[in-house]
Amino acid sequence: MSHPPIDQTAAWQALAAHAQKVRGRHLGELFADPQRGRAFTRQAAGLTLDLSKQRWCAETLTRLLDLACTAEVPEAIGALLAGERVNVSEDRPALHTALRLPPEASLVVEGEDLVPGVQATLARMAAMVERLHASQWRGATGRPIHDVVNLGVGGSDLGPQMVTHALADYRPEGVAPIEVHFASTMDGSQLVDYLTRFNPETTLFVISSKSFTTIDTLSNARTARDWLMTRLVCAGSEGVDEALVMRQHFIGVSASPQKMAEWGIAEANQLEFWEWVGGRYSLWGAIGLPIALVIGMAHFRELLAGAHVLDRHFATAPLADNLPVLLALAGIWNVNFLDIRAHSILPYDGRLEYFAAYLEQLEMESNGKSATLDGRQVSYSTCPVLWGQLGPNAQHAFYQLLHQGTQPVVCDFIAPLVRYEDVREPATRDHLMGQHRLTLANCFAQSRLLMLGDEAIDEPGERPGHKRYRGNQPSTTLLLDRLTPATLGALIALYEHKVFVQATIWGINPFDQWGVELGKQIAGETQRILESHRGHEGMDASTRGLVEAAWRAEAP
Ligand code: F6P
Repeated sequence: MSHPPIDQTAAWQALAAHAQKVRGRHLGELFADPQRGRAFTRQAAGLTLDLSKQRWCAETLTRLLDLACTAEVPEAIGALLAGERVNVSEDRPALHTALRLPPEASLVVEGEDLVPGVQATLARMAAMVERLHASQWRGATGRPIHDVVNLGVGGSDLGPQMVTHALADYRPEGVAPIEVHFASTMDGSQLVDYLTRFNPETTLFVISSKSFTTIDTLSNARTARDWLMTRLVCAGSEGVDEALVMRQHFIGVSASPQKMAEWGIAEANQLEFWEWVGGRYSLWGAIGLPIALVIGMAHFRELLAGAHVLDRHFATAPLADNLPVLLALAGIWNVNFLDIRAHSILPYDGRLEYFAAYLEQLEMESNGKSATLDGRQVSYSTCPVLWGQLGPNAQHAFYQLLHQGTQPVVCDFIAPLVRYEDVREPATRDHLMGQHRLTLANCFAQSRLLMLGDEAIDEPGERPGHKRYRGNQPSTTLLLDRLTPATLGALIALYEHKVFVQATIWGINPFDQWGVELGKQIAGETQRILESHRGHEGMDASTRGLVEAAWRAEAP
């Protein structure tokens, strides 16, 4: 059924009129209400979401909830979780939530219960992790594997890298000291560093690619394979042949077993997942192998369980208390009614160093779209430009713009409430807990200053222009009780569902990414021209010049 464009509905028009009335109000003024903090704060799954520093009031939220109902958000949530074909352009469900269902659950989609297959894959992952942790997985010359390099890009890299870094403290005790590394760039610069430092006898590569066609990953994989063959087979190690190297040094993770087999991945080393898992939503299953290798399978299951708690909350909490829905609505309000189209992600915890990079793909590859589900061009803004980095470091980099620039930006401040309580040595623990308090103080101070501007300090007299802070910059603060596998799982699921709710309201499909396809095709044609030294005549003058420069640079 075709719906009217969302910006032509009564709910949207009412919000637009409401925005006209309230947009001049300063955040500081809104905080005259002492109950405001509590009124806009909600909790679930070990997360506290404080939305009180958004430039909105109770009426705004009521109207936004009305917009969510107009866009049939509750129905869309039901359809997503039930496995309906919500990814319409690719005609398939988007069932990342099925990957984190508990083993005893059942989810029948189009006549098939998906849970046994999900659990079987987890069991195969567990068996691989156990062999590696027990030093039973040996390289072709018989030495135990020490370095595991994940070759993947986008969703086959960003999620696993973000989580392994965030949860590195959760390494299980008493297992082999396996080091996990990531190489994604097609230019080979990360890989070449590993190849110069690692021992081929003790290095294993995980080729992670849903499609198993991504040139970035396959280029790295080919270089890695040649390196192993040269160093292990051509060097004449006794009894070592190509088949043995393939069996002992490569695992493949993909939705295409056929392509893995064609590439030479031994059947026993193939971990399969499903077309109904989107690449940027895939860390919960086989793509999460590097995570399980670092934190162990038990902690990996805690990550899944934390995400599942948030999934249940998403499915059952009323919209007005539903964390992903509220986070999404704050974003809609900012982008579509306050014209704030830049969004910064600022974690105050070094373990979340890669969280912003992960969200850049999750949010912008999902919702950076301008065609609606029925093929119309939208007449309103969709995903804002989203970027970020560790908050304390960003304070010394781009906070200048946040406080005094001309571009309005909404910020997400993210921090755990408790840290370092289990450091054994008392003096070090005290120092580190002090550092944690310092970090929290900065986190809270920055959102307060963004909100209040000059009003944040009690200083008499007029301040000169260059020292003035305008304030009135909205932000969200997201507190984790602690950073654990469970709360991280919930945090990621929170953003996944936020993206889905926004896509539902904007009427776009968050689960495809056609906007990256043409670039791949043109790059392929350009590569052929670069290699053949012919065929650039039809190109534009700029690209022709660049191609000629590359040819000249190659000439002996
Ligand atoms: O080109 C974009 C993209 O398809 C992402 O959506 C995906 O996460 C990434 O490339 C890697 O794809 P694959 O896992 O198929 O190699």
